[in-house]
Amino acid sequence: MRIVFDIGGSIICPDSLPDVNFIRRFSRFVTNLRKKGHKIIVVTGGGKFAKNYIHAARKFTHDESFLDVIGIQGTRMNALLMIAALGDNAYKKVVKNLDDLQHGISTGKIVVMGGTVPGQTTDAVSVAAAEYFEADMIVIATDVDGVYDRDPKKFKKAKLIKHMKPEEIYRIVGKKKYEAGSFTILDPVAAKLLVKNRIKTIILNGRKINNMKNAIEGKKFKGTVIGD
Ligand code: UTP
Repeated sequence: MRIVFDIGGSIICPDSLPDVNFIRRFSRFVTNLRKKGHKIIVVTGGGKFAKNYIHAARKFTHDESFLDVIGIQGTRMNALLMIAALGDNAYKKVVKNLDDLQHGISTGKIVVMGGTVPGQTTDAVSVAAAEYFEADMIVIATDVDGVYDRDPKKFKKAKLIKHMKPEEIYRIVGKKKYEAGSFTILDPVAAKLLVKNRIKTIILNGRKINNMKNAIEGKKFKGTVIGD
């Protein structure tokens, strides 16, 4: 299978320091998938690292595109860290745009990307890369178990939505105002791309690696499937 992993900044760098333990566990997991013959792209979010820099830079400028450029650099630092953890299994450069993706893929190694252009988040990078890569599946790894009817961090009774059509998630996130460093479960640019390309997308808790394994193997798992 061809799989794109969208690793949310909320799990790769939840606080001011990167979560080395998670990066180690995840890199072992995808290395095993590669050994089994799967082809993989990993897209890393910026997390607190990127957010701290965006927050600091906001004291000097309100230029959202410029703040996005700072965010992109943050995502690429996390991508470098992921490359370090993957060792010989990774293509050694952070792929910066779709044009360069082909070369990375042709090496047969795991390709790692961060952000690409302003006005979006790495969710959109993942969906665009998946389209280019003709991926069978996108796995969005975040710090909650999937898409809920209400914010699960605020409402104990929030219910996990097991299945959504791309149009449904686009209807929810499409209304959100975009701002550098802001958080929604899926960015509107990514949701719009999914409406068009309809690649099967799974949103789940990235820290639960066994659950992620089950999702990929077509077994029972906890999360939200976006698809037909
Ligand atoms: P993230 O993908 O980490 O965004 O990119 P996020 O959803 O805001 O945060 P997480 O997932 O909780 O970490 C960090 C920031 O980098 C810029 C945006 O400002 C984004 O908020 N960015 C990222 C871009 O402008 N373009 C990209 O392609 C990716």
